[in-house]
Parts: sequence; C-alpha cells; structure tokens
Amino acid sequence: MHLPKAELHLHIEGTLEPELAFALAARNGVDLPYADTEELRTAYLFDDLQSFLDLYYALMAVLRTEEDFAELADAYLARAAAQGVRHAEIFFDPQAHTDRGVPIGTVIEGLGRALDRSEETHGISTQLIMCFLRDKSAESALETLEAAKPYLHRISAVGLDSAEVGHPPAKFREVYAAATALGLRKVAHAGEEGPPEYIREALDVLGVERIDHGLRCMEDAELVDRLVSERIPLTLCPLSNVRLRAIDVLEQHPLRSMMDAGLLCTVNSDDPAYFGGYVGDTFHAVHEALGLDQEQLRTLARNSFEAAFLDHDEERRARYLSEVEAYAFD
Ligand code: ADE
Ligand code: ZN
Repeated sequence: MHLPKAELHLHIEGTLEPELAFALAARNGVDLPYADTEELRTAYLFDDLQSFLDLYYALMAVLRTEEDFAELADAYLARAAAQGVRHAEIFFDPQAHTDRGVPIGTVIEGLGRALDRSEETHGISTQLIMCFLRDKSAESALETLEAAKPYLHRISAVGLDSAEVGHPPAKFREVYAAATALGLRKVAHAGEEGPPEYIREALDVLGVERIDHGLRCMEDAELVDRLVSERIPLTLCPLSNVRLRAIDVLEQHPLRSMMDAGLLCTVNSDDPAYFGGYVGDTFHAVHEALGLDQEQLRTLARNSFEAAFLDHDEERRARYLSEVEAYAFD
C-alpha cells in the first residue's frame, strides 16, 4: 500500500532476507547451517519472542563489513520506498555485533553510508535509534553508549529490545539517564510479552517518549487512560504479534479497539524479513483482517508522522502530513 507513512519500529537486522543472508555468507566465508534459502525459510516458524531471537542473532553472523551493513540498509530502504515509506527511524543492535568482534564503528558507518544517500536514492528521510539488548547487563549497555560517543551525530535516540520478560526497564535507569544527558531521545520496547507494569516503568523510570509495541496496555484501563491523555505513541507491529504468538490470528488483533480507545497507534513491520511483510503489506493486512477503512488507514499514516522525531524539522513533518491528506486510495 503506497499511502505515505513513517516507519518507527524497524530492526535493520530484521530486514535480512534469506537471499542476502546467503550472498553475504558466501562473500564472507561464513557457513550457514541451512542448505539454501528455501530450507532457511522453513525455520521461520516461531513459538514466541525467544525462538525468533535465537534465529535472528544466529543469522547476523553473515554481517561483517561496512559494505554488508550498507547493503542491508539499502535493500530495506528500496523495499520501504516501494511501499510508501517517506521517513524511517531505524533500530540497530550494536551489542549483537560487537559481541562477535565487529566494531561498533563498522556497524554505524556502514548503515550511515546507506542512510546518507537515502533521500536522494529512495526519497526517504532517516534516523538511527541505537538499542540496548535488555537480556545483557546494565554495564554492557553503559559500555555500548560509551563506545558510541564518536558516532553520536548519527544517532537520534536510544531504545531497548530483545528478551523482555525478567528484564524490566528499571534495570537500564542509569544508561537512559546518561543518554538523556547526551541529548538523545528515548524509546523502549514494553508490553510486547511483558506486563503493563513494564510500560509504566519505561515512562516513569526511563522517561521514554514512545512505547514500542505496548500491546499489553489493554489489560490495564488506568494505563490506557494515561497513554491517551499524555498522547504517548505506540509503535504496534501486528504481523509480528501473530508470528511470535502474542495473539492467535490477525483478526483478533486489538488495533481497532486501541484506536477506538483514543490511543495514538502506529503500525510498523518490526522484522519484516521474518514476519511476512513490510509496512505497506502490514497496512494492507490490517485493512483486510480488521476491516479498517480508508480513513482509519489515513489516521494511522497521520499518526506515524505525528509520532516521528521530526521536532527539529516541523516543515518536513507538515509536508509529509499534507501528502497523507492528499493521497487518493485506488
Ligand atoms: N529484536 C528484534 N525484534 C524484536 C522484537 N519484536 N522484540 C524484542 N526485541 C526484538
Ligand atoms: Zn521490535
């Protein structure tokens, strides 16, 4: 669906398509434990977040050089452009690479190479959000922020991802305070598999401005009221929720009731190479499965630009919003 939109919840490592994974494996002499792309795709049946993360981290072994990261990002941007994305705030997981001996500079400069030419090549403005892996220690997150200091001009925000349950936001209080002092914006995954309390903690302890997922807020009416009145954006990922079994089928996704409750919902792809679709596909899927009409889809697109970190460039936000209003569905 070509409706103009911003993508605010996208893990660049989760855009690694099997074809690119095998091409990079061959180039870098990395052995993958799958015969071919078809066999690899058969592994894409997940029981929960952890079963996905195991494959997601394992496949990153093929990413080694700046050029690899540049190719990965460029391939995503080309696909996103074809689905109407005009602005992308892109997550990356530095610890998943530095732990394998790939320097953080290789990751950031490689991604940066693709992002620098994105507006010209793909018509997409971009930002980078550096995520801490919450199943690693708070010290490791602090070391990562320290290691990123030479590259802060390329990073607009910090985030928090990986295995949620048992790793509450408060574990990362210190590193989020340090990120704030460095002028970075803040988001965090919360309420994907973890309880509503993690959403509250991300707001109160970490001071995040958006909640990634936030699906489980619906179990807590008081929290919903707060999210509505404070206009906290939620970056929902409906196809991800189905594939990781947070919900059984897309028809049961609470997106419609969340919008009806007045929540500032956005729709995103999370890890599109693994979850069966990019963000335009996701818009199409919620239209089909939940019967969202064209005006509701337009609201989701409008929300995505309202929730984007474009405060330094309100002119651009206004331009994107006017593209949403002008869009004619076919
Ligand atoms: N890393 C990549 N995708 C993720 C997700 N859906 N939840 C948490 N961490 C992730
Ligand atoms: Zn995510």
